[in-house]
Amino acid sequence: MTARTPLIAGNWKMHKTVAEAEEFIQALLPRVSTADHADVAICPPFTALTPMVDSTRGSRVQVYAQTMHQAESGAFTGEVSAAMLAELDVHGVILGHSERRELFGETDRALALKVPAALAAGLAPILCVGETEAEREAGDTERKLRHQVQEGLSKVPVERVADVAIAYEPIWAIGTGRVAEPEQAQEAAAFIRALIAGRSPEQSERSRILYGGSVKPENAPELLALPDVDGALVGGASLDPEAFAAIVAAAA
Ligand code: 13P
Repeated sequence: MTARTPLIAGNWKMHKTVAEAEEFIQALLPRVSTADHADVAICPPFTALTPMVDSTRGSRVQVYAQTMHQAESGAFTGEVSAAMLAELDVHGVILGHSERRELFGETDRALALKVPAALAAGLAPILCVGETEAEREAGDTERKLRHQVQEGLSKVPVERVADVAIAYEPIWAIGTGRVAEPEQAQEAAAFIRALIAGRSPEQSERSRILYGGSVKPENAPELLALPDVDGALVGGASLDPEAFAAIVAAAA
């Protein structure tokens, strides 16, 4: 089996001014300076991207944006393009977070264009997928994941599929303190890997599949030890440098 480097990414959502981001990063950098077992990423709001790119230069911390538009340019008030993010030396971008899907109308059809647009601009995408509680209870989890993964990757050239990290984030576990059971996280991650194998078995061995939803220092060791879970997309706990560093350490 191919060794996959875990990715621990902190999704700050709409938190932290530039001043708060600077304070955070100065506290985080010494805590993760020797963490060469994992890729470490922070995903600040747009306004803090350039300050964080500058402050992490020469460190092992990568900077990701939280969303982008699929078009190169145009009349899309409030949006930014892949090239605009790449110009800032941003490493990657989260796409399809459930909050973007639910609150801002992001569709699978748009994501089918966003993922290849990000790759073409040199950005590393993290594509988020996950079911609602009602879908899980109705036995619809696999159908939902299949649709989201297949649509999101549909226009990605097969040789680039493994450059897309997939974050499995069950919506009922986001911000609720209700983490998925390890068996549920492993089952979903393995299912996603099998879907990718449908495109290319070789790419599926290299693809990184993350878990997200109430990841904390206390539950991270168990989740990150699962065979098909290759990292975490962390919300609330990524706002605190000590907690986030503890989750990075748990990936060792
Ligand atoms: P929480 O870790 O706060 O549950 O958020 C998860 C998430 O949405 C990360 O993208």
